[in-house]
Amino acid sequence: MAVTISFMLQKGGVGKSTTTGILAYLLSRKGKKVLVVDMDSQGNVSTLLSQRSTYTFSNETVLEAIEDQDPVPYIVKCGDLLDLLPSDDLLAIYGRRIYELQHEGFKGSPILYLKNTLDLVKDNYDYILIDCPPSLNEQTTSALSASDYVVTVLQAEVYAYQALARFFETLFHIRNNVNPNLAMIGIVVGLIDRYTLQDSILEECKEEYGSLVFGSVIRRLARIAEFATLGITDSRKDQKVALEQYEILLDELLERIENNYHDNSIYLRALESRLEYVEEKLLEDLPDIKLERFEELKDDLINHIKIAKEWI
Ligand SMILES: Nc1ncnc2c1ncn2[C@@H]1O[C@H](COP(=O)(O)OP(=O)(O)OP(=O)(O)O)[C@@H](O)[C@H]1O
Ligand SMILES: [Mg+2]
Repeated sequence: MAVTISFMLQKGGVGKSTTTGILAYLLSRKGKKVLVVDMDSQGNVSTLLSQRSTYTFSNETVLEAIEDQDPVPYIVKCGDLLDLLPSDDLLAIYGRRIYELQHEGFKGSPILYLKNTLDLVKDNYDYILIDCPPSLNEQTTSALSASDYVVTVLQAEVYAYQALARFFETLFHIRNNVNPNLAMIGIVVGLIDRYTLQDSILEECKEEYGSLVFGSVIRRLARIAEFATLGITDSRKDQKVALEQYEILLDELLERIENNYHDNSIYLRALESRLEYVEEKLLEDLPDIKLERFEELKDDLINHIKIAKEWI
């Protein structure tokens, strides 16, 4: 049965789709059967792997697979062992559509429709990799609800770094309410080039999140950017060299999966830092309506912190 891994951070352009696509390609080259699920209406990983325009996937995407409760007719072959469940720009209506499906008689929580659909083919694959959009919408929460692991791809820049704690809070809610098996398996720091500020963010990230940060980093290389138009290939030596950094990352990821690595302290830390912020806000002279909201939030956070402590 496949191990399912989501690649996510609610910040755009950090290298999520490229990393998902390349790791899927490398896994298939190792003889593993892989399905990539594109949950982003931008369709970047669909194009990267198939070298087709997303228009050609109209009405033949992961959304139709869910509507028909059968992914098989929508799977596109991208290599001997590499399959794709594509997206197109209409996937932007995903959030609305899954609730319509519930009204049309689909059973259970709409957030689990993706999982239920992928479960139908889980036995056919060694790995299912899900590429998420850069926001915390229903595509993302559905992907996380269907996953065993989540990898966060972080660009070494301030906004992406700040998005991390908020993301861990979301993961807490998914684990707590929908998918108790979800494990945060690592943070990849990517798109590094030679700026000192980036080095300091990398250091800060390692200090804060310790061993959760993968040892290997992804450097910004022209050969990698080229794959968007050429497709992923290692026919030239410089392309082989460019892929090496992802091979090292993949080895690290597979080792973590084998050892069942996880770090449950991140949820607690994210919730505690939010509580700190809320408590500071409550010291301000707030209008009644805001005061009420912050007090409610504080009570929720205190309850959630109790739960997160039990996970450690
Ligand atoms: N290691 C790399 N070296 C050079 N360019 C890269 C590398 N990784 C990704 N890129 C390029 O950076 C851009 C953004 O990458 P990508 O689309 O993977 O990010 P993303 O996080 O998936 O973006 P979005 O949030 O919009 O989905 C793309 O043009 C891609 O080709
Ligand atoms: Mg992307």
